[in-house]
Amino acid sequence: ASDLPLKGKKVIISAGGTIERIDPVRYITNDSSGKMGHRLAEQARDLGADVILVTASKLEHPFGVTVRPVSSAREMQAAIMSDFDDATIIIMAAAVSDYRPKNQADKKMKKASQDIQILLEENPDILATMGQQKTHQFLIGFAAETNDVEKYATDKLKRKNADMIVANDVSKEHAGFNKDTNEVIIFQPNKEAIHIETDTKENIAKHILLEALYSMKL
Ligand code: PMT
Repeated sequence: ASDLPLKGKKVIISAGGTIERIDPVRYITNDSSGKMGHRLAEQARDLGADVILVTASKLEHPFGVTVRPVSSAREMQAAIMSDFDDATIIIMAAAVSDYRPKNQADKKMKKASQDIQILLEENPDILATMGQQKTHQFLIGFAAETNDVEKYATDKLKRKNADMIVANDVSKEHAGFNKDTNEVIIFQPNKEAIHIETDTKENIAKHILLEALYSMKL
């Protein structure tokens, strides 16, 4: 294999926690820092890929990749889908909010004298939608779990029609949200699971990409 096995190939990577607005000054989000996705973007770049990083993170933009900053799940979906057709690999490292406020106030909401309710409606599942539409694309999803990691990860592999699910147990001290390290298990259809011991997100990112290349016979 060449040193640049992804030369001339387009790789789309999502990163960070989406932001779902309640009003102009308030929002719903999660603890994803974007580190895992940004490290994947750098490693894919170093393997020669034309990388598109669709990021909801405030981290510095990596050098040598095309960055598309987004906020909400729907913006993330639009930014990914515009390059979907000719992408070779798509990696969903982002933590996408499953719900958004149904009504987004265009002025700051005022304090009420009683309890208030925020009604949430479902966001599109970006990975599952791509799973239905894919032709040649190799789809990699993540699974952030706190228990029954294998059960939930293999379920996501099937349900979202992904080619690989990278599961991280986010209850562990050295893994998951906002850490510089991670520990993951890679699940693929009809293959033994691969456990990658605790390492920097940079090295974990490299492992994930090399495993995908091996499975794609690139
Ligand atoms: O960003 P860091 O601080 O470095 O942390 C990394 C991470 C823990 C966020 C990352 O490694 C990770 O696990 N990301 C996925 C978290 C997650 O939202 O998992 P999930 O089980 O909710 O979703 C499963 C998969 O479907 C994910 O690939 C997700 O991007 C995708 N998804 C989920 C919901 C949705 N509406 N659309 C999606 O595409």
